[in-house]
Amino acid sequence: MKQLGILLSGRGSNFEAIARNVEAGKIPARIAIVISNREDAPGLARAKEMGLKAVYLSSKGKERETYDSEVVAVLRAHQVDLVCLAGFMRVLSPYFVRAFPQRILNIHPALLPAFPGLNAQKQALEYGVKFTGCTVHLVDEGVDTGPIVCQAVVPVLDDDTVETLSDRILKEEHRIYSDAICLMLEDCIRIEGRRAVLVQPPSGGRSFHPEP
Ligand code: GAR
Repeated sequence: MKQLGILLSGRGSNFEAIARNVEAGKIPARIAIVISNREDAPGLARAKEMGLKAVYLSSKGKERETYDSEVVAVLRAHQVDLVCLAGFMRVLSPYFVRAFPQRILNIHPALLPAFPGLNAQKQALEYGVKFTGCTVHLVDEGVDTGPIVCQAVVPVLDDDTVETLSDRILKEEHRIYSDAICLMLEDCIRIEGRRAVLVQPPSGGRSFHPEP
């Protein structure tokens, strides 16, 4: 059984969606460890309630690489095969990225390469795009620049606020993150330059649907 490591900093709704799909047997893996850089992250508390191994690792006063080497050590100790950033609001050092080559996924609430960085939904609304969405991508040494595994498109409505738009995007995030994890776990993807190319469909042709 493949092992997932989840990193989060906040609410943890993406983590929960993944955890539910793992529990339901829809993702062929177990969650070996959940790590938060924020002691008060609701997602950390939720992971503990769900009976998962979940730890707070403080980054206070630590150099980026020192902190990242602690996180990598914990992930390795739990024999993690795939690292999933689920609202983990830190940029990973090259050391971290090289420790798990093409084995780190991130979810971003925009159609990359549009609107990278923070407040992607607000950026999209202010720019005036008619469609935005979300992206699951492999993490490379840049910020939100790695090969794209899955994307979903979400319309921007005239009366959207950042909150209504974010909610609509989040439903799609919850669906495509699990899709992307299955593609990675089952080696359905081959990386050719910047492109993540589908070499075989995931078993059962899985597609995850948002909760009603
Ligand atoms: C999600 O919308 C995720 O896409 C975003 O943070 C939110 C975390 O929500 N991530 C980024 O903006 C990364 N640049 P969650 O804690 O409920 O999963």
